Amino acid sequence: MIIIKCHTTSSTNDDLREYALENHSEETIALLAFHQKKGKGQRGRFWHAEENKSLTFSMLYKSIEIPFAQIFQIHVCVTIALIDFLNEITKQEINFYVKWPNDIMAENKKCAGILIETKSSERTVIEMIIGVGVNLNNTEFPNQLMHAVSLKQISGEHYSIEDSFNSLIERIEKKIGRIPMRDNWNGLFEKYQQSLFKRKQQIKVTYKNKAIEVELQGVDESGRLVLKDRELGIIHASYEELKWNYDILR
Ligand code: BTN
Repeated sequence: MIIIKCHTTSSTNDDLREYALENHSEETIALLAFHQKKGKGQRGRFWHAEENKSLTFSMLYKSIEIPFAQIFQIHVCVTIALIDFLNEITKQEINFYVKWPNDIMAENKKCAGILIETKSSERTVIEMIIGVGVNLNNTEFPNQLMHAVSLKQISGEHYSIEDSFNSLIERIEKKIGRIPMRDNWNGLFEKYQQSLFKRKQQIKVTYKNKAIEVELQGVDESGRLVLKDRELGIIHASYEELKWNYDILR
């Protein structure tokens, strides 16, 4: 793996996309930024990061051939790598969850996020950029991020950005190296299910533009959220069809 560290940048995901246009190395490239100024979040949102407090990095996988059907396995690998890492370094009696599909929660507050961007050809992903942001040492957040929390706020500890980066890229690389996974995906799929935020609970969501209250049952093997509605029965919801209701975090 090629490792690059930079002081300031706008977005590590964007940097690696540009890098991929000019460089044809097939090796995985990991890029760490100590200060990411215009980080991108899911659904076109901004990702808040502070210099030397937030962990922001991306990994570029080039010249790959991953069928669309296996892309959810990538999400599972990155999520579990991240949750394992968080459990190890916080050493606290705190539960980490994945708020489907990509938000990592410390109890009911968000401490990390994942943004995976892909380039495809027909039914295959040929290039992939995995972006990860973790609130490591932040001591406060802007008012609009009232559901955010940092590891320092949880444990009182200060964390090394470089050590965290090294540990995470190694964990992610190891898990992704096992794809395609068959059978029970070496327990990873089950672990993902167990880590689902609000699993087996009633939640309020907007599904196909309609507000409904449903039981969150799990995810299916293609990564859609499985919900049980009194009227509609079992629903398999895709990312585009579903929005969480923020009351859920109170
Ligand atoms: C989210 O939860 O909305 C996803 C956040 C992903 C943020 C990371 S930080 C490093 C990488 N570069 C970006 O521009 N975004 C991702």
